[in-house]
Formats: sequence, structure tokens, C-alpha cells
Amino acid sequence: MNFKIFLLLFQIFKISSSFTINCNFQSINLTSIGNFYICQTRNIPTTSGTIITNITGTHENGKSNFDVEGIDIQGNLFLSFFPRGFGNFFPNIKAFMIHYTSITTLYGDELDEFPKLQYFIFGQSNLTTISSHLFEKTPNLVHIWFDWNTIEKVGHYLFTPLNISMLQDVSFFNNICINRWATSQVGINNLINELREKCPFDDEDLSTTTTLVSTTLETTTEDSKCKENVEEFVCELKDVITEVQEDITTLKFGLSQTNDELKKSNERSNELQIEFYQLRREMELKLSLKDKEIDDLRFELEMNKDEFRKANNALLLRMELLEEELKNISTNCGCN
Ligand SMILES: *[C@@H]1O[C@H](CO)[C@@H](O)[C@H](O)[C@H]1NC(C)=O
Ligand SMILES: *[C@@H]1O[C@H](CO)[C@@H](O)[C@H](O)[C@H]1NC(C)=O
Ligand SMILES: *[C@@H]1O[C@H](CO)[C@@H](O)[C@H](O)[C@H]1NC(C)=O
Ligand SMILES: *[C@@H]1O[C@H](CO)[C@@H](O)[C@H](O)[C@H]1NC(C)=O
Ligand SMILES: *[C@@H]1O[C@H](CO)[C@@H](O)[C@H](O)[C@H]1NC(C)=O
Repeated sequence: MNFKIFLLLFQIFKISSSFTINCNFQSINLTSIGNFYICQTRNIPTTSGTIITNITGTHENGKSNFDVEGIDIQGNLFLSFFPRGFGNFFPNIKAFMIHYTSITTLYGDELDEFPKLQYFIFGQSNLTTISSHLFEKTPNLVHIWFDWNTIEKVGHYLFTPLNISMLQDVSFFNNICINRWATSQVGINNLINELREKCPFDDEDLSTTTTLVSTTLETTTEDSKCKENVEEFVCELKDVITEVQEDITTLKFGLSQTNDELKKSNERSNELQIEFYQLRREMELKLSLKDKEIDDLRFELEMNKDEFRKANNALLLRMELLEEELKNISTNCGCN
């Protein structure tokens, strides 16, 4: 098919696939950012390029679309293209969360309609590719999470439009080319370097070279500041220290678990000891009973021996008497 005709068909399709979504409006508390009034929604069916053309749902008392600061799209494996048009209804979006979709590529303009975005979560979606352009219109991002995807390619300039020193939390946990998150400045810088090294995607045709330059400048001034004030290796040491601190945190966690296990074994050992003492006491009791029995038997035996001896003596005495009597008889009858 001719590409132009394809594009035309695509446009027609795009226009025709308008959609009304239903919002469950509610307040939620996002960790470390605070309370947000959000639109939570599921079941956005998408064919290619769905554009949201109306929004339904009941607002909390006194709230309107202008108060909505977040969008939370719940799992929907039929969602294979990023939904467009939320920005037309909610101009103040600061948080965008989306999970369990079939979206595999972010082409770059998906977040353009959320210029105030601070908090972006795109999880569990088998996402493979992220364009360098994605954050071009969202300079206030603070939290960026791409956990549990299958990311292999990340645009080399993805972070270029952002103020790195404003980022608090960047996570690419459990992906194909990377498995890492960071919450410190050094950690985030290392993560970005690792992305460039391990998830290379050089989609360099950025229209905005200005942002590129400004960030590069910022990085170099920060670098030179560091190198001016302290010897060069101190900069590197800082990196190492952060990594060691991260290791220590991991170790502490492991240790606390080991401690728990230790406590459990101690308790078990105490139980066993108590059991052992009980058994021993029982055995001792039984033994002492047996001893007593033996003593009794021995006593009985002695008694019997005594009686036997007495009987024996009686018999001997009796025999002596009989012999004497016999003698008397033989003497008296005068047989001799
Ligand atoms: C939101 O949660 C944070 C910590 O989890 C807490 O300090 C803060 O008070 C909560 N805010 C509201 C409005 O509930
Ligand atoms: C949009 O939805 C509202 C209800 O929230 C409805 O009153 C309005 O007619 C709808 N507009 C269009 C163009 O469908
Ligand atoms: C991701 O891929 C795995 C394996 O192909 C599949 O089981 C899973 O359902 C996919 N998840 C999503 C969100 O598409
Ligand atoms: C980046 O953010 C810091 C505050 O975290 C601010 O001091 C600095 O001016 C910002 N840089 C740019 C280029 O906006
Ligand atoms: C045997 O005879 C003597 C003297 O004659 C007498 O003293 C004795 O009692 C007699 N013994 C018995 C067992 O009869």
C-alpha cells in the first residue's frame, strides 16, 4: 500500500475512533508527593489511536475537571496504543499512572498534553522501546517508573530535557536491558549512564537542540565545580561511597532478616531445652521409682533369707533333739 494512502486511512480511522470514558473520581495519597484528586478508569478499548472525546463520572463535592491532578489507568491488556485526549478535559495533570497494557512502544509525543506532569508510572506492560522525545514537554518530572516491562531500547536523549537535580526517583526495575532503580543524585546519574550503555537507541533527530545544549552545560558546570573544589578522585570516591551505602542498606536488610531467623532458632532451642528438661525429670522419676522397687525387692529377699535361716536353725535343733531322744530310747530299753 502507498504510504500516503495508509496515513490518510490512519487519520480517518483516528478521527472515527472517538471515545467516552468513565472516571471513578477519588482522592488518593501518593507516597512522598501527597494527596491527589484523580480519575481512575479501566476498560479503554483501543484500536489504533483512540482519542477521548468525552468524560463521564461523578465528581466529589465541589470538585470539577480542573481539580483533577492525576489519571490512573487500570490494567487492560486490550489497550495497545497510548490513549490521547485526557489533556483536553484535565488541564492540571501532575500524575499519570498506567499498568498492565499491551503498549510496546512510546513514540515520543504521548505526554505532550501534560505539561505539569511530575509523576509518571508506566508498569507491567511489556514495553520495549522509549523514544528520546518522551519527556520533551514535561520538564517538571520528579518520579519516573518503568518497572516490570521488557525494555530493550531507551532513547539516548530521554533525560536530556529534564533537570536531573530535580529527579527524586527513577526506576527501570526488572527489564531486559536494565534492572535498576535510584533515588540519589549520583545513583540517578549512574542509572542514566547505564541506560545509554546497555539500552542503546540513538534516535538522534531531536528537533530541540536547545534543551540538549542547556542540560549538557549544566552537567559540565556541575562537573567542573566538583573538580575545582576537590581533587578529581574525590568525585569518583563519592560515587563509590554511594554505591557502598546502597550495599550497606541491602546488607542491613539481609541482616535484619537473619536476626529474625536467629531469634526464631533461639526460641526453638529454648523450647527444645525445656522439653529436654521435662523428659529428664520424667526419666529421673521413673528411675527413682525403679530404685525403690529394687530396694523393696532387696528388703524382701533379706527377710526371706532371715526366715530361711530361722527355719533352718529350727530344723537343726529339732534334729538334735530327735537324735538325743533316739539315744535315750536306746539307752532306756536296755538293748545294749
Ligand atoms: C500521605 O501519606 C504521607 C506518608 O505516607 C503522610 O505523611 C501524609 O500525611 C499523607 N497525607 C494525607 C493528606 O493523608
Ligand atoms: C459528554 O458527557 C456529558 C456527561 O458527563 C454529557 O452531558 C454530554 O452530552 C457529553 N457530550 C458529548 C459531546 O457526548
Ligand atoms: C507480557 O509477556 C508475557 C510473555 O509473553 C505475557 O505472558 C504477559 O501477559 C504480557 N503482559 C502484558 C501486560 O502484555
Ligand atoms: C534545576 O533544579 C534546581 C533545583 O533542584 C535549580 O536550582 C536549578 O536552577 C535548575 N536548573 C535549571 C536549568 O532549571
Ligand atoms: C534323756 O535322758 C535324760 C536322763 O535320763 C533326760 O534328762 C533327758 O530329758 C532325756 N531326753 C529326752 C529328749 O527325753
